[in-house]
Amino acid sequence: MTARIYVPGDAAAVALGADKVAKAFADAFAARGLDVQIVRNGSRGMFWLEPLVEVVTPFGRRVGYGPVKPRDVDALIDGGLLEGRSGPLYLDNVEKIPFFAKQERFTFKRVGITDPVSLDDYLAHGGYKGLERAIAIGPSETVEQVFESGLRGRGGAGFPTGIKWRTVAACAPGKKYIVCNADEGDSGTFADRMIMEGDPFQLIEGMTIAGVAVGADKGYVYCRSEYPHAVAAMNKAVAAARKAGYLGSRIAGSEYDFDMEIRVGAGAYVCGEETSLLESLEGRRGLVRAKPPLPAHKGLFGKPTVINNVISLASVPFIMAEGAKAYADVGFGRSRGTMPIQLAGNVKYGGLYEIAFGVTLGELVEEIGGGTFTGRPVRAVQVGGPLGAYFPRELFDTPFDYEAFAKKDGLIGHGGIVVFDDSVDMAKQARFAMEFCSVESCGKCTPCRIGSTRGVEVMDKIIAGVEREKNLAILEDLSHTMKLGSLCALGGFTPYPVMSALTHFPEDFGRGSVPLAAE
Ligand SMILES: Cc1cc2nc3c(=O)[nH]c(=O)nc-3n(C[C@H](O)[C@H](O)[C@H](O)COP(=O)(O)O)c2cc1C
Ligand code: SF4
Repeated sequence: MTARIYVPGDAAAVALGADKVAKAFADAFAARGLDVQIVRNGSRGMFWLEPLVEVVTPFGRRVGYGPVKPRDVDALIDGGLLEGRSGPLYLDNVEKIPFFAKQERFTFKRVGITDPVSLDDYLAHGGYKGLERAIAIGPSETVEQVFESGLRGRGGAGFPTGIKWRTVAACAPGKKYIVCNADEGDSGTFADRMIMEGDPFQLIEGMTIAGVAVGADKGYVYCRSEYPHAVAAMNKAVAAARKAGYLGSRIAGSEYDFDMEIRVGAGAYVCGEETSLLESLEGRRGLVRAKPPLPAHKGLFGKPTVINNVISLASVPFIMAEGAKAYADVGFGRSRGTMPIQLAGNVKYGGLYEIAFGVTLGELVEEIGGGTFTGRPVRAVQVGGPLGAYFPRELFDTPFDYEAFAKKDGLIGHGGIVVFDDSVDMAKQARFAMEFCSVESCGKCTPCRIGSTRGVEVMDKIIAGVEREKNLAILEDLSHTMKLGSLCALGGFTPYPVMSALTHFPEDFGRGSVPLAAE
């Protein structure tokens, strides 16, 4: 049997040198005349250990080594890596590492384990069982399964996926579309990328099930241009699925047709907003559309369209294969199932952590994330991307749950947590939120287009100590107007990071205990 090692092809691992490590292994095996297969797998999500190399030993045991540098390769092979011997960089069974062992991997269960672009590997690890069941039980029962699972949109708004699917399914038969939102623009997020790079067939299967469920025969993935590895993996997987009859007409020998293609965006944050995404997909500038009509009624090319985030769609094969109950049985309150939480920023153990809803923010940041990378105290975290609120340590008892976060004027969004230590200046972060909005605004409505620019100006005055109380009052008034008057959540949610910074860290704005600098 050919020996096999796994060197991640995931973009995060590649950024840390995985391509060079893979080449060093290929050269070293060739020089020794060894026949070893190098699989470029997805990442296990423990970024501090990347490039994390795994080997399947002759006894079938899988052990890891990391972080591996090209210069370590010769010593690892000579030290018995192919037999799984311990030594420097030895990690043993990586699934026993506490960061990994405590997770509940539903959606990411295959990521890092299989060869992402091998359909055979996907099938050998339970792939396409969900589609098989969807075909067996039929469209309306499939929609009901998704509804009963309690799955809510993982793109940010947390809207029940089953209700969205019901709406499109109820539209008159005719052309309908499935659109997958893979724009993943939120700061500190990478779950969509990791699925597309690490288990692309699962997303394809999820979209195919959605097509069967609502009566759509065409799907598009709208992927950000900054994800070339994901685009390549998706294209390869789509081609393999089509070749094997899982895409095209009469998929998997059934009566249903479904095919899909990957489209690449051009780098605008607002193109992650669903209506703006549709404009972009139709070949126009990414300008937000007024709702109604909802995309479910009049979406892509004016036809009923399901738009879902990558993780929402990639969660569906598990739900269909294991049953809605298996998914709904875990979670917290109205947040059912698991969430792939992404730990980023100034954090010691950064990476992807899939767990049932309900874990507290403090557990995630302090215990699982291990505090800051710099070793200084954590001062703030921003949850939910650039439109998410900043939470101080006093709110670390908040459970990861849509409603619990909303109650504290926050949002969990796409599940990204960006950690800051005590050197952060929260007034500068508030200014950044306004600046981000002014740069990314699509320009359609005044509160966002003009408000964010005025917001930057007023923050500059506050930071410079010019008439601070007067300008803070203007900032609050402006935030109120943006929140209530903006057409979409870009302008409407920018006040959340701004106001949370001011509420929880008033001293950075010259309020509270610290005396005003220039008044
Ligand atoms: C400014 C802005 C950016 C957004 N970016 C994304 C994104 O990158 N990915 C995403 O899935 N949803 C994004 N959304 C949310 C989408 O509009 C939409 O709610 C989502 O794609 C629906 O899918 P879901 O129900 O599966 O979450 C964004 C929303 C706004 C207002
Ligand atoms: S809030 Fe901003 S991004 Fe959204 S429609 Fe208005 S101008 Fe465009």
